[in-house]
Amino acid sequence: MNGVFSEHFTIGGAVNSSTVLGSRELIVKHFGSLTAENEMKPMVIHPRMGSWIPYGADEIANLAREHGMGMRGHTLVWHQQTPGWFFSSMGAQASPEVLLERLEDHFTRMQDRYGDVVYAWDVVNEAISDAPGEFLRPSPYLEILGEDYIEEAFRLAKRIMPDAKLYYNDYSVLDPAKQDKIYTLLSGLLEKGVPIDGIGFQGHWNIYFPDSRTLERGIQRFAALGLDVQITELDVSVYRHEDRATRLKEPTPEILELQADRYREIFQTLVNNSQYVSNVTFWGVADDKTWLDNFPVSGRKNWPLLFAEDHSPKPAYYAVVEAAGGN
Ligand code: G3I
Repeated sequence: MNGVFSEHFTIGGAVNSSTVLGSRELIVKHFGSLTAENEMKPMVIHPRMGSWIPYGADEIANLAREHGMGMRGHTLVWHQQTPGWFFSSMGAQASPEVLLERLEDHFTRMQDRYGDVVYAWDVVNEAISDAPGEFLRPSPYLEILGEDYIEEAFRLAKRIMPDAKLYYNDYSVLDPAKQDKIYTLLSGLLEKGVPIDGIGFQGHWNIYFPDSRTLERGIQRFAALGLDVQITELDVSVYRHEDRATRLKEPTPEILELQADRYREIFQTLVNNSQYVSNVTFWGVADDKTWLDNFPVSGRKNWPLLFAEDHSPKPAYYAVVEAAGGN
């Protein structure tokens, strides 16, 4: 049975070509939804103009199909992992028309190949700036298409993927200043009738953050706009972002307990608000492979997931089962 953790929302995981090989058993046992960690991003799908390399994405989509799982499509419009050729034409910056044609072509190919299995798309990822006083993040999309690029991306997605749920996805959604900016963006778009179904809270959190009240307030604030909330990239780092100088050889039992407590509190809050939350996706499978081994400090080991490096369940696993259900 898939999605064993919760009857309240679908539990998913981000997978890649390597974890599909090395962690298949855990994936099939515990997840009811898959996200391709990198394989559906434009940089991987067509790194050069005219190239079309969907093999990694195919492998993940086939695993999902084989086991009756759905997929969250990640991600269509992002300032990272999009190849430079998208934004240039004959040695100069591409015109808005050329960029929109490329987006239309990309969206169409993704829909034609994965529309049967992808039920939700992260249409726009991380468009809001972290800098005080700056609203949208500078990016080639903003430069070429102007501030309406977000609206245009959602309208295009609705036309090409009419049956998929469409999400705006971002990190630090619980940071008060950033949350206000995201709220302003999404409420403004919704007022204009832009087809947005939900917000993705990425959920790159740590053993001290977030507390239940902050998480609940964030969920309820966006739900009040009529948006579905999904936790799209959950992991709980053993380091705070600012602890760059700390480097553990291995996680101590105390840290594993703190991590379990944080996961328990997060899942209790999600269950208490489950009428607003439809999916919770972990950003990885087990601690042997996590993007946090290279972020924010390159080469520093981290242990943010529910399963240890040898794939045995950690205290965090039992805490989630206790809070959300499952076995
Ligand atoms: O595939 C190449 C490999 O050929 C090369 O040898 C190696 C050398 O560095 O790089 C490999 O590519 C890496 C790729 O992951 C696949 O492992 C890239 O350098 C690396 O930058 C890339 O990182 C990904 C990152 O997005 C890109 O910004 C992470 O795996 C992925 O977890 C991360 O995911 C993002 C979400 O999409 C959006 N939200 C934040 C989240 C974490 O950053």
